[in-house]
Amino acid sequence: MSALGSVTGLPTWHPPREVLEIAELVLSGAIEAVPAPIAVPEEHAAAEGLVLEDAEGTPVAVLRRSGAEPAVVQFESLRVFTHGPVRSARRDRLQVRAELAQSAAGVLVVPVQSMLGTATVEAVLARAAASGRALLWLAVFGAGRPSALPAAGLWRAVREISEQATESGLHSVAVPVAVPLPAGTDPADDAALITAVAHAFAGTEAVEVADQPIDPAGPSAHPAFARERDRAVPPPNRRGVTVFFTGLSGSGKSTVAKAFADELAERSPRTVSLLDGDEVRRMLSAGLGFSRADRDLNIRRIGFVATEVNRHGGIAICAPIAPFAQTRAQVRADVEEVGDFVLIHISTPLAECERRDRKGLYAKARRGEIPEFTGISSPYEVPVDADLRLDTSTVNPAEAVAAVWDLLAARGYLEN
Ligand code: ADX
Repeated sequence: MSALGSVTGLPTWHPPREVLEIAELVLSGAIEAVPAPIAVPEEHAAAEGLVLEDAEGTPVAVLRRSGAEPAVVQFESLRVFTHGPVRSARRDRLQVRAELAQSAAGVLVVPVQSMLGTATVEAVLARAAASGRALLWLAVFGAGRPSALPAAGLWRAVREISEQATESGLHSVAVPVAVPLPAGTDPADDAALITAVAHAFAGTEAVEVADQPIDPAGPSAHPAFARERDRAVPPPNRRGVTVFFTGLSGSGKSTVAKAFADELAERSPRTVSLLDGDEVRRMLSAGLGFSRADRDLNIRRIGFVATEVNRHGGIAICAPIAPFAQTRAQVRADVEEVGDFVLIHISTPLAECERRDRKGLYAKARRGEIPEFTGISSPYEVPVDADLRLDTSTVNPAEAVAAVWDLLAARGYLEN
């Protein structure tokens, strides 16, 4: 029977990232058992097994539960895991052991979760040199684990110091490995788990596990870490930022947003993408209507694109109505994973928007010809978290653009 055949009939589960990380560690032998109870969804509580799917929906393992709560959990492999950050750096433990065994004096394991200072790195190197031990650098990242660096950045820095150690000639053997270990709730348990992983990879009695220092990101940071930190959180003038205009139809959002984008193109070296409400609705969100669900999807798509623009250090200017606070908050959270979010409320009163009625839509909405029209028959939730509020019935477009410019300049986004 094929691996998949044996699991037919078991419910599938797309678990949170930490469950996949634990499954991978157990299956690879890096840890012996599940370190903490795994909460399976209520509807599967009675199932003896669950097929675990990865981020793409591919079944990767089976989780089997037995005994009373908390149940004993075991994993069976269905296929090789292919997802998650720094995949290529997740080494086979036995291969790592073989490489480390070239040094007869044992192993010094250095778990690294965040920034390391130059002094810390030098102290580790000196200690390994004095004892003649091989060096095993463990880049430990995983779900919920706080770090000044994203997994890929942590890995690059760890690999770099490991390579430097080898090239210096002081250490014949230095091996870097990436370990996706989710954060434990108890610090002592977490430290014990990291130590267990260290032993699993070192595979010798003669092993010493270094402390797990987390040095601050200041001037004492080792250059390899400082560089990655700068790359992960660039200074404001190189950091991605989303300037999100929200306000009623006809409030002047598009006018101000477009004029601000033009001003940036003219006066700033920064790259800009304008995601104007009407244009987005023609392209990205063609086919969507104005129900709450459709508006949410529209705004989430705008947020998705803005996040990608920010990931590359660009400025994204968005100008949809975005009437719901919860959706705006979700976009803020998405964007803030990679960049900064500036919210600008174009607060022109409804009466003024309706008086202008450039597209004649308010009149139609009043006659009941357009259902769910924002401000008339659908709500607009006034933001309480706006960085700037501009009422275009009292400021003209040039003044509005100047105010936005001043705000961004004051925060350092526009410096050359
Ligand atoms: S949002 O609610 O999803 O953010 P969006 O900014 O994309 O709205 O689109 C708003 C524009 O669509 C308005 O400027 C108006 O021209 C047009 N529109 C058509 N129907 C509606 C409606 N029911 N409510 C608001 N705007 C509408």
